Amino acid sequence: MDKSSASTNLSPLVREEIDRWRVKFPEGRQRSAVIAALHLVQHENHGYLTSDLMEAVAGYLDLPAIQVFEVGAFYSMFETKPVGRHSISVCTNISCMLRGGEKILGHIERKLGIEAGESTPDGKFYLKREEECLAACVGAPMMMVDHKFHERLTPARIDEILDSLD
Ligand code: FES
Repeated sequence: MDKSSASTNLSPLVREEIDRWRVKFPEGRQRSAVIAALHLVQHENHGYLTSDLMEAVAGYLDLPAIQVFEVGAFYSMFETKPVGRHSISVCTNISCMLRGGEKILGHIERKLGIEAGESTPDGKFYLKREEECLAACVGAPMMMVDHKFHERLTPARIDEILDSLD
């Protein structure tokens, strides 16, 4: 996909954001703008990336599509299929595991009636696969909901957080 076709698939805001990031890096290093571009594209596309959108980003940045697909597939912050609108990530790495992270995950699975990796049938929640350390070990056990950290969790606190979401 060339840059002009890519432009038609990307919103003006995404193109502006890509341009803003592109100039932060030396000539020929436009690949460094891919993560920021995919973040915004995913946000605009209700939380997930499609092949067409990733190709459009590649076209706009004059990159081989595979270089954008690799980023979209590698990082756990990107989704490549439709998911619930509130994304929940529970850390079960060592510090959180020692402080009950697995019980936290189990509580959310029971509460929402889904398993990790699934979305609720009403499309409200997406419980991501278990996360590796999210660098908030001091507040273990923790989870991230829509990119916001919640620490020192208890079942009651989880209920409060999830029940407060629209
Ligand atoms: S182990 Fe859970 S945030 Fe580090």
